[in-house]
Amino acid sequence: MENVINILGIETSCDETAAAVVADGGIIKSSVVASQSGLHAQYGGVVPEIASRAHIENIYPVISEALQKADCTKDDIDAVAVANQPGLTVALVVGVTAAKTLSMTWQKPLIAINHLHAHMQSALLGNPDIELPAVALIVSGGHTSLYDYHSPLEPKLLGCTIDDAAGEAFDKVAMILGLPYPGGPSIEKAAKDGNPKAFDFPRTMLDKNSLDFSFSGIKTAVLYHCRGQDMKGDNTTGSMSKQQIADIAASFQKAVVDVLVKKTKRAAEQTDAKTILLGGGVAANSLLRAELQKLCDHSNYELLIAEKRYCTDNAVMVASLAYHKFKAGLFANLSLESKANG
Ligand code: KG4
Ligand code: ZN
Repeated sequence: MENVINILGIETSCDETAAAVVADGGIIKSSVVASQSGLHAQYGGVVPEIASRAHIENIYPVISEALQKADCTKDDIDAVAVANQPGLTVALVVGVTAAKTLSMTWQKPLIAINHLHAHMQSALLGNPDIELPAVALIVSGGHTSLYDYHSPLEPKLLGCTIDDAAGEAFDKVAMILGLPYPGGPSIEKAAKDGNPKAFDFPRTMLDKNSLDFSFSGIKTAVLYHCRGQDMKGDNTTGSMSKQQIADIAASFQKAVVDVLVKKTKRAAEQTDAKTILLGGGVAANSLLRAELQKLCDHSNYELLIAEKRYCTDNAVMVASLAYHKFKAGLFANLSLESKANG
């Protein structure tokens, strides 16, 4: 029998410091996530310098806890994997430095992971065997991307946002409505009591065959709706009723989900996909999950969605994807750098 491959994954691309130990790409031995959302809430978004400092404080305890919970010592770990792109470079560098240090002192291979590809992998955690080709929709705070997925190592980008990411739009609209950060969960909560048909916010589809996204228009539409075209209106948070806020949240959420689902359908048709994968922080949204399920039931696609706890940033997805790189012998060296794009 082959030996089990244990990989320690590290994730620090934005405002979560995370570490996990995953065996053979799918057996989750531990997952530790230290969220910084409380630190950034007062600013309505992630402040890179604050994120970087918090990662420095959290990284050692988070890694230690992940090893302890997995009941592993360094001798049980076969490789150290880290998300090195894309993300905030001052945040990524903390995870990358920790991973390089451990790789060097433990004498274990180092594996570099693309954070967005890892989000894709989170949809496959419980279901590694899928019918290909697949289309993956990755929706997060920094990215909104569609991929043609043939293997874990070679996803091909089909389209992405040309301005704001979907999660960014949720966060900014929440700020306009005076709802707490992070905006996605706040909007979803407020929308529960709202009417999604109350306001007809724009659904930007771009060209007929385009698989790119644009969410800055809807964000501006909500802003103008609340403050007036001249931005002098007084319809700010203080003067809006709870019902008005709920109706705007529900109408905004429905418009964003409509675009995401329509573009995913378009991508699946263009690539003859059999399966659809959904991952990233916004994939935690219940309406998106339900509407995509409807599409798949109707059009006979298999739908795989990351478990809610693995939609937002975590290190399980990093360690899981790293297993495929480990098997393919794709290792990084100590010159590995963090990159904002990728
Ligand atoms: O993947 P993620 O944890 O971090 C990045 O890689 O960016 O995604 C965070 C984003 C935030 O914009 C947050 O508002 C959004 O995911 N989000 C949601 C929900 N939960 C988190 N958006 C909509 N509905 C949710 N339930
Ligand atoms: Zn992410």
